Amino acid sequence: MSTTAVLGCVWGDEAKAKIVDVLAVDADYVVRFQGGNNAGHTIWLKDEKYVFHLVPSGILYPGKTCILSSGTVIDPFELIKEIDALKEKGISFRDRFFIDPRAHIVLPIHRELDGKCEADDNQTLIGTTKRGIGPCYADAIARVGIRFGDLFEKENLTQRLKNLFSYHKYTVENLDKQVTDLMEIGTRLGSYLKQISYLLHKNNDKNILFEGAQGSLLDVNFGTYPFVTSSHTVVGGIPIGSGFGGKVDRVVGVFKSYFTRVGEGPFPTELFDEIGERIRKQGNEFGSTTGRPRRCGWFDAVAAQFTAMINNLDEIALTLLDVFSGLETLKICIGYRLNGEKISEFPYNSNDLTKVEPEYIELPGWKDDITGIREFEKLPVNAKNYVTTIEELLGIDISIISIGPDREQTIFRKK
Ligand code: IMP
Repeated sequence: MSTTAVLGCVWGDEAKAKIVDVLAVDADYVVRFQGGNNAGHTIWLKDEKYVFHLVPSGILYPGKTCILSSGTVIDPFELIKEIDALKEKGISFRDRFFIDPRAHIVLPIHRELDGKCEADDNQTLIGTTKRGIGPCYADAIARVGIRFGDLFEKENLTQRLKNLFSYHKYTVENLDKQVTDLMEIGTRLGSYLKQISYLLHKNNDKNILFEGAQGSLLDVNFGTYPFVTSSHTVVGGIPIGSGFGGKVDRVVGVFKSYFTRVGEGPFPTELFDEIGERIRKQGNEFGSTTGRPRRCGWFDAVAAQFTAMINNLDEIALTLLDVFSGLETLKICIGYRLNGEKISEFPYNSNDLTKVEPEYIELPGWKDDITGIREFEKLPVNAKNYVTTIEELLGIDISIISIGPDREQTIFRKK
């Protein structure tokens, strides 16, 4: 057995799906362990675009088993839409797609609460995806959530829904209809349910790929709190979210060549000028879930050193390097000053992080289009220099470089 994790190490949208896609060749199981349809993954295959929100992108490989384990939160209505759309494109789910019955269900009330909280002037605006993710996780912790396994016994489901609505002081007029609708979902998705921990442990001759969603700086604990998502996006989220307690042999951290963020929250290296605008355009930096323009900025080695450390990264996949082609000068943040003092740690406090002054090094850019290059040695010297500078700053090998959205546009670089 071998286990690999692909983890976003910034604020999400690091092009993880592309890396999962290229590494899934060797995997038998592709497992999502956190998040819900706040995630958005785009994969291009033979000029056809596939957008995933819930289903692991490994489903594009016939024969791979794809899993939503207990740490995920699932909007069943959206999942059904996604499965149907993929089936229409000829993708089979039979005996190769499973959901853990412990996974919590995102209900319409969760989306409503998410929207209300974001609209409330007395609450900090987080800029959530409004998919109900935070309220669903909060209800799970408050022990009033509904899990997939609850959808099959009418009396129990009715009682659980009553608990949930009473907890939120909600008056519900159509409880019976809600119970019936949820039980129909149970009928529709019931054949996919399986206890994932048993599946993963019983098949211990298989290769498992854990597919992270969002990124480490959005982790509910280690991210830029409160501007975070509500799940554990870091490597520690894997055993909690999947029930697989074994060792992860290979932890691959995914970084974009520049940083991006959607939603609110501190972003020390954010660019507000024409370079930021150019990166956004060139990198098509618009959210695949909400369509929001992403905030763009320089690579931040202080933040990257922190996320590399908490994930104990073995290697790095650096994506979207091609977006820099044509820029005269590139910058990398190598230090922060707070109130004039140099600081050595990534601040835990978002207020401090908004105040830090980044210190940069400048590197020369390159002109040539690099999207057709397949070997590291053939990259322009300044592109190679950019890559090796990040490696040196983080002390971790960059083993994969992505220079375009297609599977083929990938440089593998084993030392
Ligand atoms: P939520 O996950 O919808 O609660 O949103 C919380 C924060 O995480 C917001 O800043 C979102 O923009 C951000 N976020 C959630 N999912 C993603 C993602 O897949 N990519 C990038 N940002 C995300």
